[in-house]
Amino acid sequence: MILSTWGLLAFLVASSVAGNGAAKSEPGFTLTAPEMTLTLVPDEPYGRKPRVPQPTAVNMATETQAAGPGTTLQKGWYWIRAVAAPNYHKYLQTKPAVAAGTAMLESYTSAGQFNVVDGQLVENTGDEDQSLYMWVEKPVSDFTQRTLATWFNTTKNPFGTFAFQGDALTWSAPEVKRQNLAAWLVCKNQALFINTGAYAYQTPAGCSDQTIHYYNDAHANN
Ligand SMILES: *[C@@H]1O[C@H](CO)[C@@H](O)[C@H](O)[C@H]1NC(C)=O
Repeated sequence: MILSTWGLLAFLVASSVAGNGAAKSEPGFTLTAPEMTLTLVPDEPYGRKPRVPQPTAVNMATETQAAGPGTTLQKGWYWIRAVAAPNYHKYLQTKPAVAAGTAMLESYTSAGQFNVVDGQLVENTGDEDQSLYMWVEKPVSDFTQRTLATWFNTTKNPFGTFAFQGDALTWSAPEVKRQNLAAWLVCKNQALFINTGAYAYQTPAGCSDQTIHYYNDAHANN
């Protein structure tokens, strides 16, 4: 038996009315006539997401920090580390690594890569257009303040000048009179500070005197 066009149309209307509700929640519905089977699949409503598998997991790490330069030292960069207790072979870095944040000395396994360029201490992020720079806390008025905080930011440091003297990292600013330009302090949570006073003299509570030095072995190590 062959259905006429009008017959099929009437059948379709009757079926979709009868299937009201149920048809809505299903991707399609099937009409079966004695000698033919017709499967109707509605078009994707405009503006809805296509029915293809969508990724459900988002890698947060790649959204919040650069990939980084890796664990092999890149040409033109250095590790920077302390060489005396209690931070012997602890390395300059941030937590999370390769991101703006407090400068600290921590494990070689997450060490950052740095160099001094035009008085800036620059961190290699693996993307030469997006370096990080060490900033130094600028006192509001008292430039004898004993400790100056340090951290990394995406823009250049407006206060003072970094330099290597031998392999030691130094910082100086005309406003700050220092006895030893290479004197640093590592305090609570391994945070790194400029020590504006004398090295190993009246060390602030909770801090350790350190100098920090560049190191250019291929891999940071203990
Ligand atoms: C980071 O740099 C921007 C631009 O120079 C500055 O406005 C902001 O205060 C800096 N933030 C920190 C925490 O240094």
